[in-house]
Amino acid sequence: MFKKTLLAIALGGTIAATAQAGEVEVLHWWTSGGEAKSIAVLKEMVNDAGHSWKDFAVAGGGGENAYTVLRSRAVSGNAPASAQIKGLEIQEWGDLGFLADLTPVASSNNWDGILPAVVSDVMKHDGKYVAAPVNVHRVNWMWANKKVLDDNGIKPPKNMKELWAASEKLKAKGITPIAHGGQPWQDATTFESIVLSVGGADFFNDVFVEHDQKALESKTMKESFDEFKKVKSYIDKGAPGRDWNVATSMVIKGEAAFQFMGDWAKGEFSAAGKKPGTDYYCLAFPGTDGTFTFNIDSLAMFEQRNDDNKAAQMKMAELILSPKFQDVFNMNKGSIPVRLDQDMSGFDSCAQASMETFKATSAAGKGLVPSMAHGMSTTSAIQGAIYDVATEFFNSDMSSDEAVMKLSRAVRAAQ
Ligand code: GAL
Repeated sequence: MFKKTLLAIALGGTIAATAQAGEVEVLHWWTSGGEAKSIAVLKEMVNDAGHSWKDFAVAGGGGENAYTVLRSRAVSGNAPASAQIKGLEIQEWGDLGFLADLTPVASSNNWDGILPAVVSDVMKHDGKYVAAPVNVHRVNWMWANKKVLDDNGIKPPKNMKELWAASEKLKAKGITPIAHGGQPWQDATTFESIVLSVGGADFFNDVFVEHDQKALESKTMKESFDEFKKVKSYIDKGAPGRDWNVATSMVIKGEAAFQFMGDWAKGEFSAAGKKPGTDYYCLAFPGTDGTFTFNIDSLAMFEQRNDDNKAAQMKMAELILSPKFQDVFNMNKGSIPVRLDQDMSGFDSCAQASMETFKATSAAGKGLVPSMAHGMSTTSAIQGAIYDVATEFFNSDMSSDEAVMKLSRAVRAAQ
C-alpha cells in the first residue's frame, strides 16, 4: 500500500514536472478591481494545470493602450502567446498571419456545439478558431444608485424623456446626475446607446454595421446627436479624462445617480460588495429594453515556436471554455458566459436578465446588435473615425447638423 502511494506520488511528480515547462504570456487591460479579480481566475487555473502564467497587463479601459503595445511587440517579432483582441481586430491579425490554429482544442471540446454562432463567427479566421471567447458583455446598460433615486423620489427612467426629467430634478438639488468619464471610448459607448435608443436596432445596424449613407445623414442621426449633447449638462466638471471605474465608484458611493456603461461596471459593484436591487439598479439604457448590444471579450492566440509554450497556450484555450471558468470569471466580471448550456442559477438577477435578452434576441434574429464602441461592428479605421467625431462634438459647440455631415464624411473616407 505504502509502496503504491509512493509510486503514485512519484508519477504525479513526473507528470507535473513535464507539464510545468510551458509558459503563457497574456496581454490584457483588465486592471480595475473587478477586472483584476476576474483575470486572476484564469491565472490560477493555468497554474493549477501545471503551466506558468506571465502577466502582461497594460492599463487603459477599452484597450487602446494595450493595442498600441501589442502592435509594437508584434512588429519586433516578439508577440505574446495570447492577447485580448476582439471582434474585427481578430480578422485583421489573422490576415497578417500572426494567429495560431486552435482547431484541435476546438474540435475535441465541441466549441461549434456549445457556442452560439454570433460568438463563434467572431472567433474564427478563414473558418478556423484563432481566439477563445471568455464572455459576452452587454453594453446598453444604465447603472443607478438606488438610495439616490429613492431619496429623491425618482423611479428608474424607462426612456430618454424620463432620464432627462430625473436628471433635471437631481441637478436642481445639487446632485451630479450622470457619472461620466470623458475619454473617446467612453463618449462612444454613451453615443452608441443613444443611437440605439433614438433609432432602434435596425437603424443602429444601418449606421454602425452597414454604414448606410442615408441613415448616417438622416434626421434620426441628428436627433441622436441632440440627445448626446444633453448628457453634457448633467455631468460634473471632473469628467474629462476620468477612468470608467472611477465614474462607477461615484455611483457606488452615491456621489452621482447614473452611469452609462457596459456590464463590466457590475464587476466593480460586486467587488465593492454591492447587491443589485438592494444597493443599485442594473437597467437597460433608457429606451433600449429588449435589445442587446454585444461585446465579446476573447483571447487570441499567437503562433508559438516552443512546443511547451504551445501546450500551455492550448491548455489555456481549453480552460477558458470550461464551465468552471465561465462561471467564476463571469460572476466577477459582470458579463454572461459564452456557453449556451451554462447553468445560470448561481448568477445574480442582472446576469440572468442579460442572458434571457441575449437568447431571446438571438432566437428572434432581431434586437441583437454588435457594439461599435467595442470593436464588434466595424473596422478599427471606421471605429476610430466615429470616435473622433463623437468626441469632438461632445467637447465643442459643434452643431448636430455639422456633426451629421462630419460623421458621414469621416465614415466614407475610412471605408
Ligand atoms: C471593454 C472590454 C471589457 C472591459 C472594458 C473596460 O472593451 O470588453 O471587458 O474591460 O473594456 O476596460
